[in-house]
Amino acid sequence: MLALHRKIGGMVVKISKTFINDDRENLLEVKGLRIWYPIRKFLSIVGYVKAVDGVSFSVKKGEIFGVVGESGCGKTTLGKGILRLLKPTSGHIYFEGKDVARIKGKKLKWYRRVTGIVQQDPYGAMPPFMPVKTILEEPLKIHGVSKEERKERVIKALEEVKLTPPEDFLNKYPHMLSGGQLQRVAIARAFILKPKLVVADEPVSMLDASVRVETLMLFKELQKKHKVSVIYITHDFSTSKYFSDRISVMYAGHIVELGPARKVMSDSKHPYTSHLIKVIPDPDPKNRFVFKETLPGEPPSLANPPPGCRLSPRCPYVMNICKEKEPPMIRVSQEQYVKCWLYARK
Ligand SMILES: Nc1ncnc2c1ncn2[C@@H]1O[C@H](COP(=O)(O)OP(=O)(O)O)[C@@H](O)[C@H]1O
Ligand code: SF4
Ligand SMILES: [Mg+2]
Repeated sequence: MLALHRKIGGMVVKISKTFINDDRENLLEVKGLRIWYPIRKFLSIVGYVKAVDGVSFSVKKGEIFGVVGESGCGKTTLGKGILRLLKPTSGHIYFEGKDVARIKGKKLKWYRRVTGIVQQDPYGAMPPFMPVKTILEEPLKIHGVSKEERKERVIKALEEVKLTPPEDFLNKYPHMLSGGQLQRVAIARAFILKPKLVVADEPVSMLDASVRVETLMLFKELQKKHKVSVIYITHDFSTSKYFSDRISVMYAGHIVELGPARKVMSDSKHPYTSHLIKVIPDPDPKNRFVFKETLPGEPPSLANPPPGCRLSPRCPYVMNICKEKEPPMIRVSQEQYVKCWLYARK
């Protein structure tokens, strides 16, 4: 483990970086996952929004796997699909080797127990008329934990997210807490069933800048303590590079680059990743208004994406093949993969 000091959001923070360790076993393997939303006109389906369209990757035990991309590229759909909160259209989700893409009933209940979610908007994600103790007790109750144990675990969960003394928070309703405090309750709820996988979907993007870093650090502390695998979804490359072991970059329903976080940041290969890195805001106020050349145009509609590579209408390196054939995922170095024809062997 290496301790790094970095300035994020105006604060110097110590970050322990876990090196990629090839011998860690996979917890999750996603293969060719598609999640399409039907577009309905009257009673007929007239098309599909192809929000996730043939995505494959794996997440190791105890790993933080980042998913980075602009708004609308399919991140939330992917996270919810993996947790089976949305029904996959096709493809496989192997969790500990078992395909959970189409499980139902008791098996799905088991899957709910071993997975958790932290959503972007803590106020939207919490039932407004429930006090904190009921919010935290509910999942334990559903999964048959005894009354005695429930009480103990709720107190411990609040202590773990540093909402202390816990007695001061038990009877508070969501509207009585700040966004940062409520997101801590959401984190406590996600970890309360001792899950093996947590999807954190933009967990700090709606919080005040002053509490973002401490909330992420707390999240990481819990992740390490409980040895949980995390899929960290964000539009913010700068936090993902510090908190993720590996990063995947999404564009228009596809993963276009995947690799160790520091490798992707320092030596990105895909034209879209390079664009995202280029537009990370410079923390130096002097450079805030410096013009940065970006990709022309907008991401495509997912109801009607362009054929071939989805970046082709915007890519400065576009070739004929890019407009005709979808590029495969190509290995460019150890553990780094890129979906781009530029790297195909000639
Ligand atoms: N319930 C839905 N019905 C139809 N389209 C949806 C629905 N939810 C999301 N979408 C569309 O799917 C695409 C991906 O959305 P989303 O997964 O929320 O992206 P992100 O989280 O990256 O912003 C967007 O085009 C969005 O408009
Ligand atoms: S496949 Fe072609 S259009 Fe797509 S990113 Fe690579 S060079 Fe650009
Ligand atoms: Mg989203």
